[in-house]
Amino acid sequence: MKTKKVSVPSLRARKHEGKRIAMVTAYDALFARMVDESGVDVVLVGDSLGTVFQGLDNTLAVELDDIIYHCRAVARGVSRAHIVGDMPFMSYQLSPEQALSSAGQVIKKGRAESVKLEGGAEVAESVRRIVRAGIPVMGHLGLTPQSIHAMGGHRIQGRDEEARDRLISDARILEEAGVFAIVLEGIPLEAARDVTALVDVPTIGIGAGPHCDGQVLVLPDLLGLTDKFRPRFLKRYESFAERGRKAVSTFVEEVQQGLFPAEEHSFSVDELRERDRPAQPADA
Ligand code: KIV
Repeated sequence: MKTKKVSVPSLRARKHEGKRIAMVTAYDALFARMVDESGVDVVLVGDSLGTVFQGLDNTLAVELDDIIYHCRAVARGVSRAHIVGDMPFMSYQLSPEQALSSAGQVIKKGRAESVKLEGGAEVAESVRRIVRAGIPVMGHLGLTPQSIHAMGGHRIQGRDEEARDRLISDARILEEAGVFAIVLEGIPLEAARDVTALVDVPTIGIGAGPHCDGQVLVLPDLLGLTDKFRPRFLKRYESFAERGRKAVSTFVEEVQQGLFPAEEHSFSVDELRERDRPAQPADA
């Protein structure tokens, strides 16, 4: 039986149905299949791939081609969840035309089903342009990692009243421009609660408290693969880095001690001959 795809209209409707949205990142077919089979609603091919997979300090050096490559791999592993491709730094900031061209490539070449971009009023015209071309857009407000230098690091945003008002105004502008959902990252829970109450599209939080319409985590953080990264907002559901180190060091020891491979992991000529032997009437 064919699985029913999670659609943009169904995600939008969740807000009024009171059904929360679960989103995680994935960057390859293997993990994408795992999270899809686990029932997530949205898979985000985030530019966080720069920090978690490329070993970079921040997301600024991630290229549009990197996102396209990883989106294509993810699309091969997903059959149910909606796939969002993240627009990397400088792939949309120059002009609405550049934004539309980059978004088009993420959809056409990467096989993503929508795109995400960071920013409020300053990206509204680009959002309108992309949405008019039939490409759904997810917004991203608060701690926007592509502005790391302007923010002075990964700092919680929206702390005072003025900043909270700006968040609300940006969220409304994005909604008016046509986004179908907004990621709220790294803001106080009160600010996230207010934005969530004042816009008609779902908000998806990360480090933004419990009042959003959905939550997102970076998959390697959720699985405990990035065990040196311990921000307060993160809940780890596994400790794969530790388990992985144990598994690989056992492999190393067994190789060194001559315990692996054993006979059961090997092929003998007699066995192969037996396998290749044409079937005889007596075998039937
Ligand atoms: O790139 C990413 O993974 C993100 C999420 C943290 C929302 O933008």
